[in-house]
Amino acid sequence: MNDQQIRQLLLRIKQLPTLPQVVTHLLKLIDNPSSSANQVSKIISQDQSLATKVLKLVNSPFYGMPKRISTLSQATVILGFNTIKNLALTAAIFEQFGDENGNAHPDFNREKFWEHSVACAVAAKTIAEHIHYEMPEEAFMAGLIHDIGKVIFDQYLHEDFGAALEYAKKHKVPLREGEKHAIGISHTEVGAWLAEKWNLPGHLNASIEYHHSLQNPLKYAKIVATVHLADVVVRLEGYGHSGDTSQPTIREEIWQVISIDPDRMPDLLDEIRIGFDNAKEFLRMVIG
Ligand SMILES: [Fe+2]
Ligand SMILES: [Fe+2]
Repeated sequence: MNDQQIRQLLLRIKQLPTLPQVVTHLLKLIDNPSSSANQVSKIISQDQSLATKVLKLVNSPFYGMPKRISTLSQATVILGFNTIKNLALTAAIFEQFGDENGNAHPDFNREKFWEHSVACAVAAKTIAEHIHYEMPEEAFMAGLIHDIGKVIFDQYLHEDFGAALEYAKKHKVPLREGEKHAIGISHTEVGAWLAEKWNLPGHLNASIEYHHSLQNPLKYAKIVATVHLADVVVRLEGYGHSGDTSQPTIREEIWQVISIDPDRMPDLLDEIRIGFDNAKEFLRMVIG
C-alpha cells in the first residue's frame, strides 16, 4: 500500500460506526459484579427498541414462560446479565452490519457470512462447555463477532475486499493473505480496531485479533483457542460461508490450552447442529 492508500484507508475506517451509548453503558454495568438487575433494566428502558427485544426474547417459546413477562426487571432476572449483554451487542452489530449493501460480491454473501458467524458462536459455546470454560456465553459472543473485520471491509472498502476475495481464491490461499495483498491489512486487524473503538471486553478483542494466528493471547489463550477450533469446525462442517475458500486446518498449539477427547467429537457436532437451530431463532428475535 502506498501512502495515499493508507491515508484513504484510515480516513474511511475513522468513520466506523460508534457503539450506541446505551450498549456501552450496559457492558460497563454488567462487568461490575455489584450491579443489580434494577440498574440494568433501567438502562435497557432508555432504549425502546432494545427494551422491546428483551421482552420479545423472554416471552419467546425459547424460554417457555408459563405466563407473560411484562416488566424489564423480571426479564433481566430471567434472562441473566450475560444474555442481556449478548443481546444488546448483537442488536447493535446487526444494526450496523447486518444487511447486504446491495452490491454483494459473489463470494461474500452477508446472509451466509452471518450463518458462519452464528455457527461459530454456537460451536465456541459448545466447546467452552466441554472444556469447562467458566463463561460459555462469552465464547458465544466471541464466536459471533470473530470475523467482524470482513464486514467492515465489505462495507467500507468494498472494491478492495472484492479483490482480496478473488486473489485468495485464485491462489488458493487463506482470505487473510488475499486481504494483506489487496488491502494491506487483514480482517483480524481491522476487527481489532473496531473492538478497541467500541471498548469491547478483552476476551472479544483477543478473539477477533488472534483467532487465526493465536499469537500472544496469554490471558485469553483458552477463549482464542476455542474460537479458532470453532471456526475451523464450522467451516469443515459447511455451516454458512465465511468468504474464505481455502482449506481450514486446526493449529496444533491449541491442544496445549484446551483438550477434547476425540471420542466425544460426534456428540459435540450433534450439539452444535441443535444449538445452531436455536441460535438462529435467537437471532431472528434480535434482528426483527
Ligand atoms: Fe477469520
Ligand atoms: Fe471465521
